[in-house]
Amino acid sequence: MKNLIDIKQLSKNQILDIFQTADEISKNSKKKNRQLLKGKIVANLFFENSTRTLISFELAAKKLGAHVINVNIDTSSTSKGETLRDTIKTLEAMDIDAFIVRHSENKICDEIQSWLKPKTVLINAGDGNNQHPTQALLDVYTMLKYKSDLSEQKITIIGDIKHSRVANSLIDCLNIIGNTNTNIFGPEQLLPELLQNVTVCNSIEQALDNADIIVMLRIQKERMKLQNIPNLEEYHNNFGLNRKNLSHANQGCIVMHPGPINRDVEISSEIAYNSPSVILEQVKNGVTIRMAVLAKLLSKKF
Ligand code: CP
Repeated sequence: MKNLIDIKQLSKNQILDIFQTADEISKNSKKKNRQLLKGKIVANLFFENSTRTLISFELAAKKLGAHVINVNIDTSSTSKGETLRDTIKTLEAMDIDAFIVRHSENKICDEIQSWLKPKTVLINAGDGNNQHPTQALLDVYTMLKYKSDLSEQKITIIGDIKHSRVANSLIDCLNIIGNTNTNIFGPEQLLPELLQNVTVCNSIEQALDNADIIVMLRIQKERMKLQNIPNLEEYHNNFGLNRKNLSHANQGCIVMHPGPINRDVEISSEIAYNSPSVILEQVKNGVTIRMAVLAKLLSKKF
């Protein structure tokens, strides 16, 4: 693995290997981890807002001993008309070892990759509604902490699937891992036209019935035309997760959400950060998984 652009570039063994690296790194002493990327320079280039991904990549790189540059797009020369290509080439000339890029344009990382020198690493931190590979890795890593074998677990993803790079990359990752029981549910206008190897449910009860893992997604207003945005109260009544409809799920089920959450829209406040929600566990695992990915791509030791 030279770059991480799309989860589909990884085999099941490569994914499990990243998880093993994450376990190993989390057992290491802080001092040992700080040696892994000593002297490396990592640049975060986020053209879309972020809390979890940006901060966890920064923390992950720092915990491995790298220097981190967070490029502020608003104060950069992008506002003077510099192209993305020229910005990237300028930073690369300053000996940046790795770029972590979030952008609204689907597949922009394929282009960026073609501009970079072979030794420069590129990680996709989310492109349009296409891919968010490290989110898929941290989601499946978290699932495996609670359910040792995911092959037949009923995994249900509910919400705005159509505009969600999280859903796309998670479904791809579950296909690679070998889960055969992935279900989706949401308003018709927020479901994709084509998705392979998933069951589309007709009601929230069907989606939640005997579910082992429930993944709730927010409505991605930023990727929608205004007229497609549902009424939020109505949305919560028909598609939101609450204590009452959660009772359809299996005992021992877990509730996940990539964040940011919209309380009492897709998930009720009483579930948000309370059992069986593992949302904050996902956040924590995000740092470990990103440490593992950075170590795999930049350290000779992995
Ligand atoms: N899950 C996720 O990508 O969150 P941020 O947008 O806060 O990074």
